[in-house]
Amino acid sequence: TGLTGLDYGFVNTASTKSAITFIDGEEGILRYRGYPIEQIAKNASFLETAWLLIYGELPTPTELAEFDEKIRRHTLLHEDLKKFFGALPHNAHPMSVLASGVSALSTYYQDSIDPKNPEHVELATIRLLAKLPVMAAYAHKKSIGQAFLYPDNSLSFVDNFLKLNFGNLAEPYEVNPVLSKALERLLILHEDHEQNASTSTVRLVGSTEANLFASVSAGINALFGPLHGGANEAVLTMLAEIRDSGEGVARYVERVKNKEAGVKLMGFGHRVYKNYDPRAKLVKESAHEVLEALGVKDELLDIAMELEKIALEDEYFKSRRLYPNVDFYTGVIYKAMGFPTHMFTVLFAIGRLPGWIAHWREMNADPQTKIGRPQQLYTGSPARDFPER
Ligand code: CMC
Repeated sequence: TGLTGLDYGFVNTASTKSAITFIDGEEGILRYRGYPIEQIAKNASFLETAWLLIYGELPTPTELAEFDEKIRRHTLLHEDLKKFFGALPHNAHPMSVLASGVSALSTYYQDSIDPKNPEHVELATIRLLAKLPVMAAYAHKKSIGQAFLYPDNSLSFVDNFLKLNFGNLAEPYEVNPVLSKALERLLILHEDHEQNASTSTVRLVGSTEANLFASVSAGINALFGPLHGGANEAVLTMLAEIRDSGEGVARYVERVKNKEAGVKLMGFGHRVYKNYDPRAKLVKESAHEVLEALGVKDELLDIAMELEKIALEDEYFKSRRLYPNVDFYTGVIYKAMGFPTHMFTVLFAIGRLPGWIAHWREMNADPQTKIGRPQQLYTGSPARDFPER
């Protein structure tokens, strides 16, 4: 059949060419469009980085101002969408709520669902960037039983999001600049990571000529899993379990090494990074800064640091080249900011959105794109006769 190999998990197979993000897993290098992640995180805003990923170059100040303005203009959601959110159960996971909401955008905004029409693609891009944070905040408010707020377009992207999450109708809300700066940095660090599972999903769905909303909704569902974006939530659950069980960090690490069913060191290991994850380094710095600036003392951060120290010195982790990944310290920061655990992966989704859009557009514009259709090695029964009746 011309089939050349079996590659579980696509460990050795490139599914595409891409000019967006460069990773060297051996050296711990990550660059967006050639710019090192450390320099971007220090100097750029979330939207400037989004522009860079999507359009390929840094924006001029005018381009950035126009982009920002357009996104602000599109933050409002169709009023009927509120009823849609209202109909979902309050104890639904916000990631499921978000994926459903994004899927519903195809129904409310039918003037931006044609992948072959550049104006539709551009409008869908702006709408997603503007509306995903609002929907994410709705998912949060829904889960805690508070009223949804309207976006405040006088605020920046990140500040608007913070107000939508932590403001309420009864009191004025002042954005804390420490929180705003730290969240912006975390979102930037999540913006792209080449062909990870959710981005590959977005590309695969998009390769069928499905629209951008439908493809991103699929990406959100792929991100939900605990081996991918769901790891940030799983890390915090793990740290809390270690604290509450009183078993101690060393004992937990033993259970991981003994491969007890369901026991893994969440937030450790990466398919590509076999050295330290460069994002994890930056997140760890932020964790200390943010907790200090917010005056939060969290035992979970101490447990995380102890866990990291023990694991980094242990032969099991060393020989498998397992290091903390981006998800290891993010949960501790999100918790200090006041986000409930079930919102952590939603924050990852907001961060990753520009990457998903950039990859979908790159794929959509590439004349070499074909529908994604993997091969299989058939292991079932040989041909046999169906019993005559
Ligand atoms: N804890 C304990 N052992 C591990 C871990 C871990 N977190 N990760 C890998 N291993 C072991 C694994 O059991 C295997 O051991 P052995 O050779 O004895 O069978 C070896 O290391 C190689 O692991 P693998 O499963 O072949 O590696 P992979 O590239 O298929 O998986 C991974 C990568 C990220 C899914 C995995 O490391 C993992 O499950 N980590 C925990 C979940 C996590 O933190 N995910 C977030 C990833 S980064 C950001 C994102 O994508 O969201």
